[in-house]
Amino acid sequence: MPRSNILFALLFIVLLGLSEAPGRRSLYAFASSSSDGICKSMIETQGYPCQEHKVTTEDGYILSMQRIVVGQSGSKGDKPPVLLQHGVLADAITWVLAPYNKSLPFILADNGYDVWLGNTRGTKYSNGHTSLSTSDKAYWEWSWDELSSYDLHALVQYVYNHTGQKLYYAGHSQGTLIALAAFSQKNLLNMIRSAALFAPIAHLNNIPSPAIQLAARSLLATALYWLKLGEFIPKSQEVRQLIGTICNSSGTNCSDLVKLFTGPSCCISFTTIDTLLLHEPQPTATKNLIHFSQVVSTRKIAKYDYGNPIQNMQHYGQLNPPQYNMASIPKDFPLFLCYGKNDILADVKDVEFLINNDLKDHDKGKLEVVYSEEYGHLDFIMASNAKEVVYEPVLDFFKRT
Ligand SMILES: *[C@@H]1O[C@H](CO)[C@@H](O)[C@H](O)[C@H]1NC(C)=O
Ligand SMILES: *[C@@H]1O[C@H](CO)[C@@H](O)[C@H](O)[C@H]1NC(C)=O
Ligand SMILES: *[C@@H]1O[C@H](CO)[C@@H](O)[C@H](O)[C@H]1NC(C)=O
Ligand SMILES: *[C@@H]1O[C@H](CO)[C@@H](O)[C@H](O)[C@H]1NC(C)=O
Repeated sequence: MPRSNILFALLFIVLLGLSEAPGRRSLYAFASSSSDGICKSMIETQGYPCQEHKVTTEDGYILSMQRIVVGQSGSKGDKPPVLLQHGVLADAITWVLAPYNKSLPFILADNGYDVWLGNTRGTKYSNGHTSLSTSDKAYWEWSWDELSSYDLHALVQYVYNHTGQKLYYAGHSQGTLIALAAFSQKNLLNMIRSAALFAPIAHLNNIPSPAIQLAARSLLATALYWLKLGEFIPKSQEVRQLIGTICNSSGTNCSDLVKLFTGPSCCISFTTIDTLLLHEPQPTATKNLIHFSQVVSTRKIAKYDYGNPIQNMQHYGQLNPPQYNMASIPKDFPLFLCYGKNDILADVKDVEFLINNDLKDHDKGKLEVVYSEEYGHLDFIMASNAKEVVYEPVLDFFKRT
């Protein structure tokens, strides 16, 4: 049962949007003031100085990053940089929703790390381009292949250039897939010390939710329609319609969509969820969600399939899209993986397949795994006890790698 990030996105959006529990803010009603960056609205408000940075990818997308150099102590730490990379339909704000002493970026800064938050193309604070605008269809011509080869590459290279040091990496959900894809091609490894992967997404063969499976099938069946739209806007009429259809035909009670699509979360406070709904979900490319659906339906981790041999030949020089071979990740590259029993996107069976098959020959001392009996997909970055369950083990791991 794979859980697709697509699904994740859909679910996330849908769940959040459709769960109109009293007192909860509707997704469709959130007001966005776009004048202030993430530093001003989410980081300085927690008492941390913050710098906004911009980096342009090789294909012209202008991405924003936030940097926290100084922790509570008020003086600059002595540890290397860390880059944090968010999931699909989300942006860097998802890392800083909990209070400062429970959120990974602030905990890292307080421990002396130089913390950088990346935002992938198409999200609210990374929607610039050297020649295109978000209303151009061409702006949305990408999937997680490009997030891996262009966005992640630019973000890592920028931090490396700027600090003159190799960095640590921490990713959530889609932020793990794009890193694993790069590592499997032996990219970026010269600039990264080690990687912590929260709710890792690679194989999507065991999605337990009929609604998610149906969402993936629906997107693939109507791919031409969706691709014409270019941008996947979670709050749009089209997406609400899709979700309504999926709920109806899978017999799903959509009043509990969030839980349905990400798995039940054990430990996220209502305040954190309310703040989450103020800022997320973020748009993505429909092509990206179709690519995730392809991973679900083909049970292969491959590049985007253009759906016909001629176009695949044009893009890849072969009839079928090339596959990512996760077993090619160098065996001595230090990895930390954490996953949870209640996660229906990073399903336990799929994560364990990655660990026990692709990574079976990984050097013993270079692969660490944390498993939670109670965590769902979002707990890893938002739970009120994530510091004890996940972040402290990650700090130990960084110290040793
Ligand atoms: C976080 O800070 C609050 C208020 O300052 C305190 O009550 C709480 O115990 C702290 N939590 C952790 C995990 O340190
Ligand atoms: C990093 O530095 C190299 C060499 O000076 C330069 O070619 C490249 O454009 C820089 N990249 C970024 C993202 O800063
Ligand atoms: C779902 O079913 C309800 C009740 O049968 C109907 O009112 C609604 O229009 C349906 N929604 C969609 C999107 O098909
Ligand atoms: C859907 O779930 C909600 C909350 O659990 C419940 O109040 C509601 O009655 C359910 N609706 C249906 C049609 O089962």
